[in-house]
Amino acid sequence: MSDFPMYAPSEEHELLRATVRELAEAKIAPFAAEVDEESRFPQEALDALVGHGLHAVHVPEEYGGVGGDALAAAIVIEEVARVCASSSLIPAVNKLGTVPLLLAGSPELRERYLGPVASGEAMFSYALSEAEAGSDAAGMRTRAVRDGDGWVLDGVKSWITNAGESRYYTVMAVTDPEKGAGGISAFVVEAGDPGVSFGPKERKLGIKGSPTRQVVLEGVRVPGDRMIGAEGTGFKTALATLDHTRITIAAQALGIAQGALDFALGYVRERRQFGRPVGDFQGVRFMLADMAMRLEGARQLTYHAAVKSERAMRGERVADLTLVSSACKALASDVAMDVTTDAVQLLGGYGYTRDFPVERMMRDAKITQIYEGTNQIQRLVIARQLLG
Ligand code: CAA
Ligand code: FAD
Repeated sequence: MSDFPMYAPSEEHELLRATVRELAEAKIAPFAAEVDEESRFPQEALDALVGHGLHAVHVPEEYGGVGGDALAAAIVIEEVARVCASSSLIPAVNKLGTVPLLLAGSPELRERYLGPVASGEAMFSYALSEAEAGSDAAGMRTRAVRDGDGWVLDGVKSWITNAGESRYYTVMAVTDPEKGAGGISAFVVEAGDPGVSFGPKERKLGIKGSPTRQVVLEGVRVPGDRMIGAEGTGFKTALATLDHTRITIAAQALGIAQGALDFALGYVRERRQFGRPVGDFQGVRFMLADMAMRLEGARQLTYHAAVKSERAMRGERVADLTLVSSACKALASDVAMDVTTDAVQLLGGYGYTRDFPVERMMRDAKITQIYEGTNQIQRLVIARQLLG
């Protein structure tokens, strides 16, 4: 029988996973509880990831990056999220912020902005949402008005991950209010541009180490060459970006769920009740089996979507990328919420305390059902893809 290639990540991907797991266990896990408790940015994680070239593996080699594929990027995010969901937003949001440049940016813009991200000198955030325009992102109010050869931006972008820590921002703004979604354009804004400031950190249920802040734009003048793609294409670029990056949120969800399952497995082997380890009871074993089964199903769909994302990035037309991307994000995040909740259950009263990591994982899992489009929006996107 001829060779039959495995429908699975390659040896290189598994080697990458082992490398990230080792690094995450040694340098990121020890600070995860503290970062959560103190709601502080995980600088140790950033340093460790930059030190090993894992903070933005998706940046192509021509811009100084390591040129990792979409599956490699997903595996990095998954493995970091397994120990600290907040830290996994460093590679995830670096990708979210820069995919618009990769999809639609001019060669000059890519040259200028991707190098500092590849080297770890700068992080990049993505600013689409506003206080009154979350799911209905095209309802944004932030305006960009032409001023000579540049643009002047005014408005407030809300809920921006890593705001204040990132040096660069992809900002979507209305350039023609008459044209709806077709009147939105995308720009690169720098934290140091006069008129840019940041709101206070949001006080959140989970991912407390990842700063979420408003990006306030007051008369921010940017040169014309900072527009990403043509005028009026910003909303499409924003949505096309999410087709690639919802997969990274699925990967984050997988990692959170795997971390909780791994912890619960260790616990039920040790914890004894009725004279035996609780892991001997069929009621517990069936819960573990369901957790592992659902997690592996979500992982397969996520990796499948990552392969499609990579093919699309390489120029292939992938008709169902939007569908599989939304599907893996909704599935993996729902699985993460269920698995982490069950992990708390399997630890009993101890699971409900901050002495064990599963309650943090349960709080962290919740956001994956909300950001990069709520799971209701993912279902809306999937249904539109099915029905046309
Ligand atoms: N790729 C490219 N273009 C697309 C597209 C895609 N996937 N989907 C739609 N478009 C195009 C449409 O063809 C349309 O263009 P034409 O008019 O020329 O045909 C245009 O974009 C507008 O599309 P819709 O009419 O479908 O737009 P809509 O207003 O109905 O909204 C939506 C669609 C799916 C609800 C969208 O607004 C959405 O995804 N909302 C959720 C917002 C979201 O995900 N925000 C995430 C913020 S980032 C974040 O949260 C960060 C983090 O996690 C760390
Ligand atoms: P709303 O849109 O007000 O939704 C409220 C409820 O109504 C939800 O349950 C929603 O599913 C439901 N709903 C709305 N419309 C429909 C519909 N048509 N059909 C069915 N149900 C519907 N944004 C960025 O741009 N960049 C970031 O970096 C970023 N990071 C974030 C980090 C955090 C921690 C958080 C909380 C948010 C972040 N966001 C970011 C914003 C995030 O993408 C939005 O919160 C999300 O898209 C939902 O928007 P909303 O909060 O306005 O909810």
